[in-house]
Amino acid sequence: MNTNATRTRHRRGIVVVDFGSQYTQLIARRVRELETWCEILSWRADGEAFRAAEPAGIILSGGPESATHEQSATIPDAVFDLSVPILGICYGMQALARHYGGRVATSGSHEFGHADIARHGSSKLLPEKASTQVWMSHADRVEVLPPGFSVTASSVNAPIAAMEDAHGRCFGLQFHPEVTHTPQGMEILDRFVHGICDAGRGWTTKEIVRESIDEIRANVGDEGVILALSGGVDSSVMAALLHRAIGDQLRCVMVDNGLLRLGEAEEVRAAFDPRQGNALPLNLRIVDASEEFLSELEGETDPERKRRLIGETFIRVFEREAGDLSSTPWLAQGTIYPDVVESAAATHGHADLIKSHHNVGGLPTRMKLKLIEPLRELFKDEVRQLGIALGLPDELVHRHPFPGPGLAVRHLGAITPDGLEVLRRADKIFLDTLRAHSLYSEVSQAFAVLLPVRSVGVVGDARRYARVVALRAVVTSDFMTADWARLPHDCLAEASNRIINEIPDVSRVVYDVSSKPPATIEWE
Ligand code: XMP
Repeated sequence: MNTNATRTRHRRGIVVVDFGSQYTQLIARRVRELETWCEILSWRADGEAFRAAEPAGIILSGGPESATHEQSATIPDAVFDLSVPILGICYGMQALARHYGGRVATSGSHEFGHADIARHGSSKLLPEKASTQVWMSHADRVEVLPPGFSVTASSVNAPIAAMEDAHGRCFGLQFHPEVTHTPQGMEILDRFVHGICDAGRGWTTKEIVRESIDEIRANVGDEGVILALSGGVDSSVMAALLHRAIGDQLRCVMVDNGLLRLGEAEEVRAAFDPRQGNALPLNLRIVDASEEFLSELEGETDPERKRRLIGETFIRVFEREAGDLSSTPWLAQGTIYPDVVESAAATHGHADLIKSHHNVGGLPTRMKLKLIEPLRELFKDEVRQLGIALGLPDELVHRHPFPGPGLAVRHLGAITPDGLEVLRRADKIFLDTLRAHSLYSEVSQAFAVLLPVRSVGVVGDARRYARVVALRAVVTSDFMTADWARLPHDCLAEASNRIINEIPDVSRVVYDVSSKPPATIEWE
């Protein structure tokens, strides 16, 4: 737990060395699904970081570089100094082969998709089946084995599809065991993590709750923690966790900025307000600052200035409403593990990969607060499991992400109360329709956008010159890239009909068919 909090635990886990693959985080999640702690370190990280992790084994990720280039990323010496088993995947296998004196070459064609591998000889890593379906994505391949290694599987395009050394300590896979397209992938990872590395077990929701509570108590003692509750998954789960750990030492402030979705402030109140008889009687203050926000935003059309104004107003309101902080020196922040990994990648020179952090920037230093980040080690799916275990309502835990600036970045152009009203209603109809078609959980994020144009329509015999609403739904695993969701036409038709029929000021509904990149998920 960071930034001012200290970490006290020790786990015999796995370290994934990140060479920049799109699958790096997926590998770590898979290992954690096997109930073993797993962390990600950049291949550029200090040797000390590897030593401090004290892993039971190392997995080398894939990566976008070509191992045939002299200058391409190499495996840090610290990895070999640990003397633990190593599994190289794709680029990781090639880097391993190169390190031990093998040869990597470009195979001429990019092999992408399903492949069948045939097993050779005996292997500690691969299941016994003679032939196994796997997922390949590579252009380079190992052409000459390093001395002391043998081939354990081959495919048509990769004669050395898997290799291992004679001591059963070093393994390479040209294919990706972490993706679901490799049906026996989890079995392979399990054999490595538990069979070969004998890594510790115990990374379960129950254990995460227990450890987190111990750690929060050890850090906070009898001091107070203040939390800005947004109603999103992360801040809600964090509130529930902190409440379980320190009870009324936690003070939550929810700022209603007037840019929330329909009924959102009430929902949060219902989930946490003891007067409503629920299980989580938080010390919560909901502040209606909508007028203050909307008057700051009046006439503003520039997306970045809108964001900045909202950020500044938030800090001002929060500072005012948080009151006397002498007894609450800690600020809880909802940083989660992908934020940590992406920031590390950025400091190690992969700035193009970073998604900017959307936490309450500026608050901790201004308010002279110490930071506590209880979700810092968790992936989003783990945060959700924690939320369920702590008794939060299902609909809150499985809610799509919602941006800090709220509807301001979905109401294009200058914001007006009327526009917000239309947007709220359209958004609610769209999400209700998705739920009715059992599609809400099938997409990663869905919402309505109010466009700053008018368009002609006819209702009965009357001409209507009214607003245009765009619907956006995306599928993504990390929100850094995203595909537009192929929603069934009948679902779109129902949402469109309802929006136009039920909201008099809308004459047209369009569906956004842009993926990210080049488009972003939000419109502003
Ligand atoms: P983009 O639009 O950058 O969005 O593709 C990626 C994810 O981030 C969310 N998002 C934000 N969240 N403050 C936030 O808290 C912001 O300013 C912001 N901008 C985008 C967006 O909803 C999506 O989930």
